[in-house]
Amino acid sequence: MAQENASHDHYLMKPFFIIIFFLNMASCSYGVGVNWGTMATHQLPPNKVVKMLQENGFDKLKIFDADEWVMAALLGTNIEIMLAIPNNMLEELSKNPKAADSWVYENVTSYLYPGGLNIKYIAVGNEPFLKEYNGTYLMYTLPALKNIQTSLNNAGHGSTIKATVPFNADVYYSPDSDMVPSAGDFRPEVRDLTIEIINFLYLNNAPFTVNIYPFLSLYGNDHFPFDFAFFDGNNRPLMDGNSVYSNVFDANLDTLLYALEKAGYADMRIIIGEVGWPTDGDKNANTQNARRFNMGLLKHCLSGNGTPKRKGIIDVYLFSLIDENAKSTAPGNFERHWGILEFDGKPKYQLDLKGLQNDKGLVAVEGVKYMEKQWCILDPDATNLHYLANSIDYACSLSDCTALGYGSSCNGLSLEGNASYAFNMYYQVNNQKDWDCDFSGLAILTDQDPSQKGCQFPIMISHGSCLGSHKGLLAFGGIYIFLVLFLL
Ligand SMILES: *[C@@H]1O[C@H](CO)[C@@H](O)[C@H](O)[C@H]1NC(C)=O
Ligand SMILES: *[C@@H]1O[C@H](CO)[C@@H](O)[C@H](O)[C@H]1NC(C)=O
Ligand SMILES: *[C@@H]1O[C@H](CO)[C@@H](O)[C@H](O)[C@H]1NC(C)=O
Repeated sequence: MAQENASHDHYLMKPFFIIIFFLNMASCSYGVGVNWGTMATHQLPPNKVVKMLQENGFDKLKIFDADEWVMAALLGTNIEIMLAIPNNMLEELSKNPKAADSWVYENVTSYLYPGGLNIKYIAVGNEPFLKEYNGTYLMYTLPALKNIQTSLNNAGHGSTIKATVPFNADVYYSPDSDMVPSAGDFRPEVRDLTIEIINFLYLNNAPFTVNIYPFLSLYGNDHFPFDFAFFDGNNRPLMDGNSVYSNVFDANLDTLLYALEKAGYADMRIIIGEVGWPTDGDKNANTQNARRFNMGLLKHCLSGNGTPKRKGIIDVYLFSLIDENAKSTAPGNFERHWGILEFDGKPKYQLDLKGLQNDKGLVAVEGVKYMEKQWCILDPDATNLHYLANSIDYACSLSDCTALGYGSSCNGLSLEGNASYAFNMYYQVNNQKDWDCDFSGLAILTDQDPSQKGCQFPIMISHGSCLGSHKGLLAFGGIYIFLVLFLL
């Protein structure tokens, strides 16, 4: 991503901070973490997001890229950071130890000073063994991991900063013939390579990181028992020997634990790098289900009850912090709606981050600035609707109409309603330029909010910050498909 020319102001601050601050980086925290992705057309100012993180008591954060502005906003906060390296850098990092040295120097070492960043993990790639990547990253992942850890060691950070690899749960499975956790093993095509990586992590005292998505179990399978995706439904427990599973999350995690045990790593430390529930874009994606899932998840993971196979607190990073309207919808329309906060930093539902299920609201991002209260809709007097369908398709292809589909928040709209929704999204995403509200004369501006019950016609936040303008739509390029193979 294009951040080469931004300056490193923090070099200059170094001497002052050394005198003033001393941070204890060794402390271990047991709160919940969160993933902060930035694939949105309109970014919230990072410093306001960081303030919100602190006010809500998030003390662990996972970010997908060493974005200069995000890193700068985190300086001095002591929020524990898992910093990821995008998949498209793996090849270079695997072949070139010097490239790993420079990555570590520029994106880690230069932030490590008292009052700087509290970086704890480097995530090497993101789900690099995902089936949908057709093996593209198989050969690069382990060498890149080794090079990055070696660079960390050589720079003197090896004892406090561990490199890990976030895997999708599709690296392990239970066979169709015996769909229980104790039959778990790694997927045959990637088994040897995955175990080599695990061995390297293990010897380095680094955790195994896995992303688990009960929502996708439900999404992919109409016969999946609905309550089994949640933590309070126990109407159809799964029996595995003497173990009773009342939710798919535990069953999935234990499948991994059995696979690890078979490979000889029964005591491998595990981090859940991503887990969450989307709120739009599918019939099961709504705030009610998302709240039910995340509340149950936090209560369960922080309780120390663990899974049938392993007791103790489960280390989780929620996916995700804020909705991202520029993510690929290849996995499904829900992909842009994983946030516990809306695109503008408003909480979607109450969530007690301590897992105590108190009716405790989340704090919103404060001081958000919006563009004018102005919407672009279908002209009610328009008569020539010949090009309407084409215009809708065009507007949607360049903005975000994921709320219009089946089971989504704006699915009930008429054809005219669809047109207004599409025109408005296009207009807002393009920063309310007059010429973006035309569509061959079909569209007009209005100052009357066209939102209906449950269906929001949003107004984007204004481009106040420096972030955003340099980020293209679909900045990461790679598709971001999560596959959960799991269970009936
Ligand atoms: C540091 O990270 C950024 C963001 O991922 C990347 O663009 C840059 O190339 C990295 N620096 C080096 C020296 O690899
Ligand atoms: C993987 O292969 C499929 C089918 O050949 C193709 O459609 C897809 O684009 C490939 N994906 C990647 C990331 O190469
Ligand atoms: C509105 O758009 C959605 C999504 O494309 C579509 O499923 C629905 O049928 C459309 N409604 C009408 C009345 O055309």
